Amino acid sequence: MSSIDRKAFRDISYGLYIITTKHGEVINGQLANTVFQVTSNPQRLAVCLNKKNYTCELVEKSKRFGVSVLADTADMKFIGLWGFRSGREINKFDNVDYKEGEFVPLVTSNSMSCFESEVIEHIDIDTHMMFVGEVINAEHIRNDNPLTYALYHARKGREPETAPTYNPETGSVGSGKGGDKMKKYVCNICGYVYDPEKGDPDQDVKPGTPFDEIPEDWVCPLCGAPKDDFSPQD
Ligand SMILES: Cc1cc2nc3c(=O)[nH]c(=O)nc-3n(C[C@H](O)[C@H](O)[C@H](O)COP(=O)(O)O)c2cc1C
Repeated sequence: MSSIDRKAFRDISYGLYIITTKHGEVINGQLANTVFQVTSNPQRLAVCLNKKNYTCELVEKSKRFGVSVLADTADMKFIGLWGFRSGREINKFDNVDYKEGEFVPLVTSNSMSCFESEVIEHIDIDTHMMFVGEVINAEHIRNDNPLTYALYHARKGREPETAPTYNPETGSVGSGKGGDKMKKYVCNICGYVYDPEKGDPDQDVKPGTPFDEIPEDWVCPLCGAPKDDFSPQD
């Protein structure tokens, strides 16, 4: 009889990467943990992208993708931008350092190295596409500590449903009701928890501010979701 302990999947190690793409004049990118080198001669990388993602659509069309290896200097807001927002709604490259590669933009903010690859193979795996790309350019930008998945989880980071490693048991967030002024609120998009005791000083919300009293234009510091996307924590 088979048995699946979801915790086992958490023990698989990964890094975090920004996958970039350009089709015509359109540029986009997304966060992914599923990057690995598949062969050394020739040098090839693989990445697994959800078919719903704009990045996947553009990589399929352009047959090229860039990879930036993230350093642990990347904060949760930066990760939220690439990992929870879609390029169909916003331009993720605003206020981010990047350079033009031969075929795709390459994010240099919080990046240790970057690669450009040409897709030589794609494998349809139901919800996702796995792209294998031959590396045509690789550059080491700076020495730093890589941002590992373990570190991201230690910071209480979560994954959206589009991530191959999404775990419905830890990824879902509650939507209970409550009138307590110091109640914590959870972002339905990314799982960030607003704690009134801490506030959000980066956005001028002082410690001790109840959720109801946060200005309406405040956004989730992790993924940029509006206040409406928060629910009281159970
Ligand atoms: C920690 C983390 C890891 C992720 N890993 C992947 C991944 O490997 N593959 C994937 O398709 N999506 C992954 N995602 C989800 C995408 O980054 C997310 O769906 C993004 O908003 C897609 O943007 P796009 O529509 O602009 O392409 C991950 C998200 C997070 C937060």
